[in-house]
Amino acid sequence: MSEAKRVAVVPGDGIGREAIPAAQQVLDAVADGREGIDFEFVSGEAGDRVQERTGSALPEETRELVTGADAALFGAAGETAAEVIIPLRRAIDAFANVRPATAYPGVGALQPEADLVFVRENTEGVYAGHEADLAPGVTTLTRVITAEASERIARFGFEYAAEHDYSVTVAHKANVMQTTDGQFLEGVATVSEELDVEYETVLMDALAMELVRDPTDYGVVICPNLAGDVLSDLAAGFVGGLGLLASANIGPERALFEPVHGTAPDIAGQKVANPTAAILCGAHLLEYFEFEAAGADVREAVTETLADGPRTPDLGGEASTDEVTAAIVDRL
Ligand code: IPM
Ligand code: MN
Repeated sequence: MSEAKRVAVVPGDGIGREAIPAAQQVLDAVADGREGIDFEFVSGEAGDRVQERTGSALPEETRELVTGADAALFGAAGETAAEVIIPLRRAIDAFANVRPATAYPGVGALQPEADLVFVRENTEGVYAGHEADLAPGVTTLTRVITAEASERIARFGFEYAAEHDYSVTVAHKANVMQTTDGQFLEGVATVSEELDVEYETVLMDALAMELVRDPTDYGVVICPNLAGDVLSDLAAGFVGGLGLLASANIGPERALFEPVHGTAPDIAGQKVANPTAAILCGAHLLEYFEFEAAGADVREAVTETLADGPRTPDLGGEASTDEVTAAIVDRL
């Protein structure tokens, strides 16, 4: 008998509250149907709602829930997003942010052949928190790039690429940020020599253009933190929109999975949120626990449902979140 995996569930605000329960439903269905897969879900609050009530967007008990679980499913947070997700990533030392941008058939993607995975450095760069007001009208931001973090993300990216059979591209702006992105590229080079693997480097602005024109030339894209933030949203735009994309924050001992979409206040509460991104978070979580076959089955059920329906309104359909979720569960 294997032990139940403890999963912290933090739906947050807006459509996170509709999408994350859908993912949980799918994981429950997977666990029900298979020997050796068992989850213990523990729920916590984060985001605008809990801040209004308690004054804190990330209550200590939620942080402890996440650091005490094997993995977490996080939905979205509204205005307080940065105060929730950045500390949560830090709490589990989630150094790698994995953001697949794969186009699915039937969703009208601008680039239907795209199959990319952004591997974003998730701990430093301009997210290191060193911003200052020097004098009236004069502000600064210190960008931190270390050899350790650069090597760590490079190793993760190369290993991920090898495992999934992707090429590796490294995005940078070392022509301008010579010292910091110079350090980043040095970290990548060190690891590539150690692992004896190949890669190419591309200036991030040029890469933005190339990705839009022809993303099929690329596979894994290893990026410094902010470049990964921007480029992954850019790619989301040409594979069918934020409603379809999942991301994983991977630490040395635990991981947190979150849809790339936000709270979508325009449709929140209407029960029509697209649950695809959250359910794909569930697939990623299964794979993280090495339930590979179950993860693949969820991906297949999602792919079929995207192609054949039912679909939520963002994809031109009329189905509710529950109807789409039920269709995916049925296909399992
Ligand atoms: C993301 C978001 C976050 C980020 C914000 C909410 C802090 O844009 O997950 O991409 O910049 O990392
Ligand atoms: Mn972002």
